Amino acid sequence: ARVVVLISGTGTLLQALLDAAADPGYGARVVAVGSDRPGVAGLDRADAAGVPTFVHPLGPGSDRAAWDAGLRDRVAVHRPDLVVSAGFMKLVGPAFLEAFGGRTINTHPALLPAFPGMHGPRDALAHGVKVAGATVFLVDAGVDTGVILDQAAVRVEDDDTVASLHERIKVAERDLLVTTTHRLATRSWQVVDRKVRWDP
Ligand code: GRF
Repeated sequence: ARVVVLISGTGTLLQALLDAAADPGYGARVVAVGSDRPGVAGLDRADAAGVPTFVHPLGPGSDRAAWDAGLRDRVAVHRPDLVVSAGFMKLVGPAFLEAFGGRTINTHPALLPAFPGMHGPRDALAHGVKVAGATVFLVDAGVDTGVILDQAAVRVEDDDTVASLHERIKVAERDLLVTTTHRLATRSWQVVDRKVRWDP
């Protein structure tokens, strides 16, 4: 399966996918990496893996709908079977979802529906939860509201900071994303009543 990965930052989740895809048996190939920000480490990781990249910035004055349609077009040229948002910090809009909804997944460093948004680990820590984790879900028009594909839990330690908790979550998140992408790429599946049915 052809996978396009969207990033905004360090790209450790992207790196996990690149490493997994190096095994021909993985069943998915990262055919391109897109970022909304130039010069991020994730782009260097794609370069090092010989994967084509593009940067699609949302300028302060740029029109959101035009940016969304532009992102759709730049992803479409790579003919993806699956789009993986891995630390991509922008919401995709109607034009993108019309083209890739239902086959775009995102990963979030919290156990949705708890703690959606930009600061999952911080909000979980502030709330005093004892278990946190990561969620991989199908992107829909909302913010972290899509159908949940899988989740992984991690314990919160008493001396955790936001950074230490997020790093622990990211370790679980990497495996979750690699496993889920593999399953989506190699098995047939469908969504019924917000539940994913993996055909045998
Ligand atoms: C991940 O935890 C992702 O869920 C969150 O930001 C982090 C991205 O990490 N949105 P990286 O850029 O893949 O290292």
